[in-house]
Amino acid sequence: MLYVSVAAVWRSSHSCVHCRSGIWSLGDVARRAFTSSVLRTRQEVSPVFSKALDYGEKVAIIDHSGEHSYSSLYNTSRSLAGHISQALACESGDLQGKRISFLCANDASYTVAQWAAWMCGGMAVPLYRKHPPAELEYIISDSQSSLLLAGQPYGEALEPLAQKLGLPCLHLPPTSSLDSLQAAEPPAQPTKTLSDWAERPAMLVYTSGTTGRPKGVLHTHSTLQAMVQGLVSEWGWSRDDVILHTLPLHHVHGIVNKLLCPLWVGATCIMLPDFDAKKVWERLLSSKTPVVSVFMAVPTIYSKLIQHYEQHFTTPRVQDFIRAVCKEKIRLMVSGSAALPQPVLRRWKEITSHVLLERYGMTEIGMALSNPLNGPRIPGAVGTPLPGVEVCIVMNDTTIVRSTNKETQVIAGLEGRAGELMVRGSSVFQKYWNRPQETAESFTEDGWFKTGDTATYKDGVYWIMGRTSVDIIKSGGYKISALEVERHLVAHPDITDVAVIGARDATWGQKVVAVVQLQKGKTLTLPELKAWAREHMAPYTIPMDLIVVKDMPRNQMGKVNKKDLLHQFFPS
Ligand SMILES: *[C@@H]1O[C@H](CO)[C@@H](O)[C@H](O)[C@H]1NC(C)=O
Ligand SMILES: *[C@@H]1O[C@H](CO)[C@@H](O)[C@H](O)[C@H]1NC(C)=O
Repeated sequence: MLYVSVAAVWRSSHSCVHCRSGIWSLGDVARRAFTSSVLRTRQEVSPVFSKALDYGEKVAIIDHSGEHSYSSLYNTSRSLAGHISQALACESGDLQGKRISFLCANDASYTVAQWAAWMCGGMAVPLYRKHPPAELEYIISDSQSSLLLAGQPYGEALEPLAQKLGLPCLHLPPTSSLDSLQAAEPPAQPTKTLSDWAERPAMLVYTSGTTGRPKGVLHTHSTLQAMVQGLVSEWGWSRDDVILHTLPLHHVHGIVNKLLCPLWVGATCIMLPDFDAKKVWERLLSSKTPVVSVFMAVPTIYSKLIQHYEQHFTTPRVQDFIRAVCKEKIRLMVSGSAALPQPVLRRWKEITSHVLLERYGMTEIGMALSNPLNGPRIPGAVGTPLPGVEVCIVMNDTTIVRSTNKETQVIAGLEGRAGELMVRGSSVFQKYWNRPQETAESFTEDGWFKTGDTATYKDGVYWIMGRTSVDIIKSGGYKISALEVERHLVAHPDITDVAVIGARDATWGQKVVAVVQLQKGKTLTLPELKAWAREHMAPYTIPMDLIVVKDMPRNQMGKVNKKDLLHQFFPS
């Protein structure tokens, strides 16, 4: 079997490493190319708060209550860590990974709760304010949390759960007076008393549960740091950056990409309490310092911003102003967590002049693949591996392509074939909490995490076809990617949102079903859709069934739960 080196992936100018070319046997590949020393070197690991002392009075977070410097966040977190140790009668000041569940608004109190959990050696378990009590209880119980932290105004939500489960619950002061925590006896400098950060559990993030009950994904301080460092270098983060944060803080996208990355480099994060299209536009366009330079969101947010734009920014003068401000002041706009529809990408470019940077990640692996910061971003593709990440595609137990940040090998003749995407590297999670069997099943023997996503490699980049379980539709002998069908359908002028599912069918095995949301006042029949689709799509991918919904049921991260949709419309 031969691997052919097809692409030297030249990234930012400072990481030019020569790629060997030529033809290798599998053994050579395994020995030489992919046991890259970059991936194996033990890095100095320390939590993000250890950097705060260097950044001192620089503004870390701006929220509804005002500005919070690195120094004040650090001091407040340290005081809270003291309260936590006291509440748990932990004299050593090292909770050794005990879980601390916290429920906070999108403001500085979130960071204080997270850092405090880390400073006393605990593991942070972020809860989400929009989860119903039963979901909160599930996560608190499943994680076996020892203590709850309630930011304002979530004391009332957590107190009954704390009583029911017999757990201590600490209430944080209002974010405007977080400093009042400093009355407590502060513990010693955490970076001096605690060590072995690398292997220390840092965070349990619960998967969104689109397949089965949510699982706690355990990241250590070293896997978190690997995620942060990969993004910091590849996306060119610096302390001059200012990011506008509008995402929920119980997923990697909101926690790592948008909060830990800026705090790692000493940048400033402006946090809005919630997503609100009007407020986001105001802040993006504001000349008030600090001026926003980075924005990241999920596709539904970009859609909503476009809707707001179409309704309110109708004069050419305003439109020119918007394009000019976005072009001059903003250096990076990223989309992720769900597939980005092409019309959204195109319209966003017209409005702001920015080609959204698409990337691929998962709770278990952080970010794995990304389009380049500089250089061509290919619409619909997710680029190549981030530093420290290896990926491969496995088809019928054969690895058909493998890549690192620097190079790629494909088996000759098999480029463009689909298979399961697998990921390995320093940012991959340690385990599912209390689920040894699911952990074991999710890795191959040689340590690749099986993402459960189907992907292909072509034209020098990776393409995600969707979840193997729900997005790969097997119909009449074809394997159809639901995401590709969606990409076509969303270009229909009357369709504003679409989810494609595969329903069981006696004749075809599965049939392609389009669940669509239409423009206000429009109607669409299946024959009309089919007539339109024949002009645009391969015949076997054309939907056989059409379901029109008023609102597409997307979650906060812009994802549709396709198993629920199937269950709703095709109860078996
Ligand atoms: C934080 O604590 C340090 C040491 O006690 C002190 O020098 C510094 O002024 C404090 N920072 C703030 C913002 O209160
Ligand atoms: C993979 O395996 C399946 C089932 O054994 C077979 O039908 C298919 O042709 C194989 N694909 C390739 C490219 O070998």
